[in-house]
Amino acid sequence: MIIDVNLGLRSYHIVVESGALDTVGARLAELRVGSRAALVSDAAILRLYGKTVERSLESAGFRVATVEVPEGEAAKTLAVATLCWDALLAAGLDRTSTVLALGGGAVGDVAGFVAATYMRGVNFVQLPTTVLAQVDASIGGKTAIDHPAAKNLIGAFHQPRLVLVDPAVVRSLPEREFTSGLAEIVKHGIVLDADYFAEVERDATALCARDLPVVERIIGGSCRLKAGVVERDERESALRHVLNYGHTIGHALEAATGYARFAHGEAVALGIVAEARLALRLGVASPETVLRQERLLAAVGLPVRASAIDADRVLATITRDKKARDGRVPFVLAPRIGAFQLQYDVPWDLVRAVLGELGS
Ligand SMILES: NC(=O)c1ccc[n+]([C@@H]2O[C@H](COP(=O)([O-])OP(=O)(O)OC[C@H]3O[C@@H](n4cnc5c(N)ncnc54)[C@H](O)[C@@H]3O)[C@@H](O)[C@H]2O)c1
Ligand SMILES: [Zn+2]
Repeated sequence: MIIDVNLGLRSYHIVVESGALDTVGARLAELRVGSRAALVSDAAILRLYGKTVERSLESAGFRVATVEVPEGEAAKTLAVATLCWDALLAAGLDRTSTVLALGGGAVGDVAGFVAATYMRGVNFVQLPTTVLAQVDASIGGKTAIDHPAAKNLIGAFHQPRLVLVDPAVVRSLPEREFTSGLAEIVKHGIVLDADYFAEVERDATALCARDLPVVERIIGGSCRLKAGVVERDERESALRHVLNYGHTIGHALEAATGYARFAHGEAVALGIVAEARLALRLGVASPETVLRQERLLAAVGLPVRASAIDADRVLATITRDKKARDGRVPFVLAPRIGAFQLQYDVPWDLVRAVLGELGS
């Protein structure tokens, strides 16, 4: 499947295909970029897929410098970005060169930030290897490193020239990492596309078993939905808020538990449950709409209840966010499957009530 992301001069393709990693060299050559490239990745991913990508690039005539960064969030620091800039310089990358990110969202974010800033911006290619990175982080051009005060605080918009999604690689993900990524897939269905939601409902068992044709079709469908949102709102002014469904409460749950208790997708699943119930309490959605969301999250192995949630702490985190954003908190609500609306000034006692229900 090839998905066009139409952004004028910054347009690019997302290729979703088993074995896509083998084709990166040939596809990059088609873009007529310079012959030098840097492959940014972590040790674990390099062990699994590094050779495939290096070989593909080299056989298409590229000179590749491989830059290893730490695994996970530890990669998203200024120190690691500096180490990457140094490596790019040492390898002689110039303004026509290309930085490729092979890995999850963390590798993509730091490599993208390096590509956005090195010599005021060089070509960037995403080779996402987690479900979350394939359906979410690699599409849309948001790049970032973390600041001690908050995650993703320092960054830039820098669109990739190409996104190559090889669905076969998600089969090597640890179970929890794989399942966590499914939360974004369910989210896309709920707020953007009822038919897609029904497809995920129907294929939930095969998806969880990582049946390759099903994984490929569902990941491709999710990439298409995210690309559609990015096309209509490249710089995240309004529409792109829709992708925050489940995240207003989900992010607060993650932060209030010190990023230690929940994987991102687990917190988002709980956030979806809470925000679905918020829509019910506000008279915006029916009980059936809420139930379908909970059922699908549970069917793909995500949590829909959690004990001992400190509602005060979660609320304090959301309010702190609100101050940071200079005003009101927009909640994304799903009036029915396949639709969304933004709602400001949701009463705090309702938020407290739905947080309480997570424990029941
Ligand atoms: N830029 C965006 O639009 C955007 C959107 C969402 C999230 N993010 C960012 O993404 C990051 C989270 O990304 P993530 O969930 O992909 O996790 P991650 O990047 O932290 O990777 C998780 C782990 O999975 C391993 N791994 C990756 N692919 C593998 C594979 N195929 N097989 C085996 N192991 C593999 C990695 O080595 C790493 O240890 C966060 O930093 C978040 O801020 C960015
Ligand atoms: Zn998310």
